[in-house]
Formats: sequence, C-alpha cells, structure tokens
Amino acid sequence: MASSGKEKFGGKAAYILALAGSAIGLGNVWRFPYMVGEHGGAAFIIVYVICAFLISLPIFLSEAVIGKTTGLGPYEAMNSLAPKSPWKGLGILAVVSSFIILSFYCVVGGWAVDYLCRSFIGGIGVTTRDGASALFGSVAGSVCEPLVAHAAFLLLTAVIIYLGVQKGIELFSKVSIPLLFVMMVIVTIYSVRLPGAEEGVRYLLKPDFSKIDASAVASALGQSFFSMSLGVGMVLTYTSYSRNANVVEAGAWTAVFDTLFAILAGFAVMPAVFAGGLVPEAGPSLVFEALPYVFGQMAVHTPIFSRIVTILFFMSILLAALSSSISLLETCVNHLMERRNYRRGRATLLFVLLAWALGVLCSLSFGPFGGIRIFGQTIFGFCDLLTSNYLMTLGALAFAIFVGWRMDKLEIQSLTGKFFHFMIKWIVPLAIIAIFVSNLIL
Ligand code: PHE
Repeated sequence: MASSGKEKFGGKAAYILALAGSAIGLGNVWRFPYMVGEHGGAAFIIVYVICAFLISLPIFLSEAVIGKTTGLGPYEAMNSLAPKSPWKGLGILAVVSSFIILSFYCVVGGWAVDYLCRSFIGGIGVTTRDGASALFGSVAGSVCEPLVAHAAFLLLTAVIIYLGVQKGIELFSKVSIPLLFVMMVIVTIYSVRLPGAEEGVRYLLKPDFSKIDASAVASALGQSFFSMSLGVGMVLTYTSYSRNANVVEAGAWTAVFDTLFAILAGFAVMPAVFAGGLVPEAGPSLVFEALPYVFGQMAVHTPIFSRIVTILFFMSILLAALSSSISLLETCVNHLMERRNYRRGRATLLFVLLAWALGVLCSLSFGPFGGIRIFGQTIFGFCDLLTSNYLMTLGALAFAIFVGWRMDKLEIQSLTGKFFHFMIKWIVPLAIIAIFVSNLIL
C-alpha cells in the first residue's frame, strides 16, 4: 500500500515522546535496578550507557532509516526495499515478536491495574512479607481476578490505539511521559529518605569494576535492547509516521529518557527494598511484593503519606506499561492496515482478540496452567524468554545487516552520519554475534 494518506505524528516532540513512551516500561523498573546492583553498581551504569549509545542507538537508527525512507511498517517496508526476497521474513518476524510481547506484557499490565485499584480502594494493606507474597499469589495466580485485570489493561491499550496516531498515541504520550517522571521523582524522594535506605543507595552507586565481565556486558546489552524496544519494528513503524524527523536526534533523546528513567526507578525501588530489610531480586516480586510490603510497613507510621506514594508508584507503573503496550499493538495494527487495507477499528479488534487469547494462557500459567512447561518454562516464561533473548536479538541483528550491507551507503550516511553507518555495518553485528555466542556458552 502507498504510504501517502497515512496518519502522522503532529510534530517532533510527539514523535520523540511516543518513542520514549515505548522505551520506558516494566523493563526499566524491575530488571534494570536489580542488574545494576548485581553487576557492580555505578560501574554497570557506565557500561550500560556505553552499550545504549554505541550499540543500541545504531540499531535504533537502522530501524528508523527504513521507516523514514519507505514510510511503511516492517513488512511492507522490507517488501518494497527488497521485493521477492527472504527479507520479507524480517517484517513478519517483527510483527510476530511484537504480538507475543504484547500478549504477555498485558498480563503484567493487568497486575498494575489490580494493585492500583487496591491502593485506591482501602489501600494495599500488607504489613508482613508473607502477606505481600500471599497477595501477589492471588493477584497473579488465581483465575478470575487476573483475567479481569488483564482484560481491563488490554482494553485500555485498545482504546488508545483505536483513537489513532494523533488522538491516541500522541495525546497519551504527551500527558503520560511528563507525569510519569514527576510521579517517580516523588516516590524516589520518599524512598531515599526512609530509615535504612542508605544501604540501597550504596547498592546502586558503589562502583565495583571487578564485577564487569562478559556476562555483565551481555546483560547490559540485552537489557538495553529490550528497554529501547529494538528489533520488533516499533521504531520503524513510529518513524514511518514522522518522516521528516532527524533520526539521530530522536534516537539520542530516546536513549537519554530511557536511561534516566531506569536510574530514577532504581532509586525509587532499591532504597525502599533495603529499608524494608529485604534482599533485592529481579522480576515481578520486586515491584509487586517487596514494595507493597515496604510501603505497607510505613503506613503504620505515616498512613496518608504512604498511601499517596503507593498510588503514585502503581500509577506510574501502569502508565509506563501502557505507553509500551500501545507501541506493540500499533506495530501489529499498522501491519494489517497496510497489508490488507483493514480499517483501524477492525485491525485493532482482531489483534486484541488474538493477544487476549494468548494472554489468557500466559496469565493462567501463574495458576492452574503452572504445570504446563515448554522447554522447562511456563507459558509466560517461554514467551518472555523467546522474545527477549532470541527474537528481538535476531530482529536487531537483521535490521542492522540489512541497512549496513543492502542499502545505499551514501543515502544512509546522509541520514545517520558516517560514524553510525560504520557502527551499523561492522560493530553492531559483531557485538550481537559475540554476545549471542557468549550467552550460549554461559
Ligand atoms: N521497552 C519496554 C520496556 O522496557 C518493552 C518493549 C519491548 C516495548 C519491545 C515495546 C517493544 O518495558
């Protein structure tokens, strides 16, 4: 389909905020802080920033130049740049990866809806560690409650996408991203002032360069791919809505916002975890068990204040998750609109139903379907592992190789500059292959 007549972002700010919205998500809150602590504090942050700007940014640019030059989503873009070639497969890979991530991501989004509702209605009210675990067990592991919350989150995502690029994605990003930062700053201030919080600040900041080994670098890179939403055609799709944009500038801003928010989330989460006398771990328990417990304990002394902080915390988790889930759904919806000439409403409905079905399986894998294992993983775990560890990396590698080796050198250099073209062509593929191999060995 021709790209003329396609919806567009209203301007540069909208495009950048939408990209930042996609990047800022659950990954920033529940994986980044833990990785920082595990892999040498400030030393890891330095490695992460280097990876974000030297490897992830070039990958971002690879996707962006394809979106910019074609004005099309991943499948049609590859189809028009390399007709009748296997490169179309990359377009399919991108849409499929987006769809799978969307499906399990919305399950977690549902938990955020649930906790937020609870913190409004009567507070979360857990004061013991066991109480927090039991609560999470029922929020995630029962049948009805998580399914209702999951459907609610998916519905919110669908409504925003149904409203379209400007009235949906753009408006939501413009409101939610600034709000998200403000709310997280308030939670951070509260968190670092809790008694015993210094230990958590030290955990994040104490630079320990002896912990920077191959596995730390691999973790930093993997995390920065997921966090900047690379390899799934999202950057490509959003850029096709903003073809006049300067892609280097947009990529740099996305990396800056994403990294700042991850560090901010680290200071909101870890000091509180240590103040509560807990041992930090990555994943859902950090956000949905440890923090409710700590805030619940504080509620004994400062009920109103701790209630407000709990609401702000879960509200920011919800907004962060939504601004990411809409970008995943949009990549899928745009595909059907281009490929099959579907109207937005119909394409949204179709993908939402599919994502709902897979999401239900993922959600139930925390409860009654917990025994179903795929390569030793629950359904949710398998979807997460498959996309985060394999499909996204493969997509990122393929986009870089295509742009570096198949597209016109001078044209790419005029968009990205010589330095980034060199990185895309040589360093990114080598780095990804090295990490892939080291991951297999480790
Ligand atoms: N970047 C999001 C996060 O950090 C996840 C995501 C991945 C969103 C891929 C869109 C595409 O949580």
